Amino acid sequence: MTKFHILTLFPEMILQGLNPSIIGRAARRGLLALDAVDIRAYTLDRHGKVDDYPYGGGAGMLMQAQPVYDAHRAVTGGRAVRTIYVTPQGKPFTQRMAQDFAREEELVFLCGHYEGIDERVLERVVTDQVSIGDYVLTGGELAAMVMIDAIGRLIPGVLGNEESAGEESFFNDLLEYPQYSRPEEWQGMRVPQVLLSGDHRLVSAWRLEQSKRRTAERRPDLYARYQERQYLTERLSGQKRNNIPMMESLSRGRADILYTEFRGRDTAVLLYDRSCGIAMLTALDEETGEKIADLLPGDTRMALLSEPFARDILIKRGYAVFGEFVQFLYTRRETLPVRYKEIRQLTMDDFTYTSSRYSAEQKGPDVDDSYVRERIQAGAMYGAFLEGRQIGFVGIHDEGSLGMLFVEKDFRGRGVGASLEAYAVNRMLERGQTPYGHVAVGNAASQRLQEGLGFYKAEKTFWWLEKVLANDT
Ligand code: ADE
Repeated sequence: MTKFHILTLFPEMILQGLNPSIIGRAARRGLLALDAVDIRAYTLDRHGKVDDYPYGGGAGMLMQAQPVYDAHRAVTGGRAVRTIYVTPQGKPFTQRMAQDFAREEELVFLCGHYEGIDERVLERVVTDQVSIGDYVLTGGELAAMVMIDAIGRLIPGVLGNEESAGEESFFNDLLEYPQYSRPEEWQGMRVPQVLLSGDHRLVSAWRLEQSKRRTAERRPDLYARYQERQYLTERLSGQKRNNIPMMESLSRGRADILYTEFRGRDTAVLLYDRSCGIAMLTALDEETGEKIADLLPGDTRMALLSEPFARDILIKRGYAVFGEFVQFLYTRRETLPVRYKEIRQLTMDDFTYTSSRYSAEQKGPDVDDSYVRERIQAGAMYGAFLEGRQIGFVGIHDEGSLGMLFVEKDFRGRGVGASLEAYAVNRMLERGQTPYGHVAVGNAASQRLQEGLGFYKAEKTFWWLEKVLANDT
């Protein structure tokens, strides 16, 4: 459960603002917690004072370090908790950031008042400084509430329909299309005819067109990004079997394009998915390989690539081979038959079993529970059951590939694995995604399973590399 601690001089403002909203309802349902903490309660000043004049002079008063620090300590108990100072001097808040924050179990928001807060306590406790826009409010409370609302609605279960927050148009750099409800005619204005046609394809095409037009008009900055993405996707589609991970990452709006270079029919690309620290790249030669390696963000956890020379460049820069894989993709639109019937989406009730089997299978030293938890919470894992007892699972990785397949030994060879995969493929198709996945070179059984389901093999093999951290050695 995500806990929001809000350090403020106006705790009642936070609670009265959020409690009547969907976020307040989610708190009452136990999906998140709102903890408004009165900074004034922590001052050591006899008169309850929390502010003083700034050294060097200037207008207004500053919040002092001591009460802020002590309030923060009281909430965190000294644990490392992501702490957001809401300030017009911060980085602009975006949907991407909301996604990133939504992955935290606990967040502290620090709301300033007066002319700000003594810099020294900010240095001690703050991990992120974030602004909600280029304007100045009288205090940080409204800004914190805006962020909590945007983050809170991404927590699974907070919105009625689980998927409604997942794949919104903002992720794709396009604004929403216009919408209409009854009556068909109002004050002489008719609902656009196409929306009454009942033809889903036509409706989708019309909506996309409207989104594009709106974005071009109102947000040329977003539209330029959209066009860059579209162009790159088109280029990559020339070799779809090889490039599908990048194409999928782009179409979900998860990847930043950090580098592109086009040479004839070939493309050098670096994509980076900030939400999970995964880089995907193709290089044309040693030179572009080095250039791309220079651009890899410092917090990259894993990289996916297929050129051996690019692999070697990254190894020289502190990456290690996690494995070599055959890449499979499912290009058809028809759903697959699911023969084994007891399959459903996993919930946190299934976490203990799933996580224990997943880490046993991975055998790695650094496999931790948090990945399985995060995948279950994202609604991206499915399990097979026999009379209610779990006997296997499959999942969709955070960068979009299908994997994590496991079936209990005693139940193998009966098509449970194929059914789990088919089930996940069908869910991906429903979301308009192209299913693909990686099977370790040498795992013949799993490769046969993919081919049996109608997956195609990519021409190239792929390497997943891991960043080797200094303290791993
Ligand atoms: N505090 C005052 N103005 C703010 C803003 N625009 N964003 C975040 N915090 C603020």
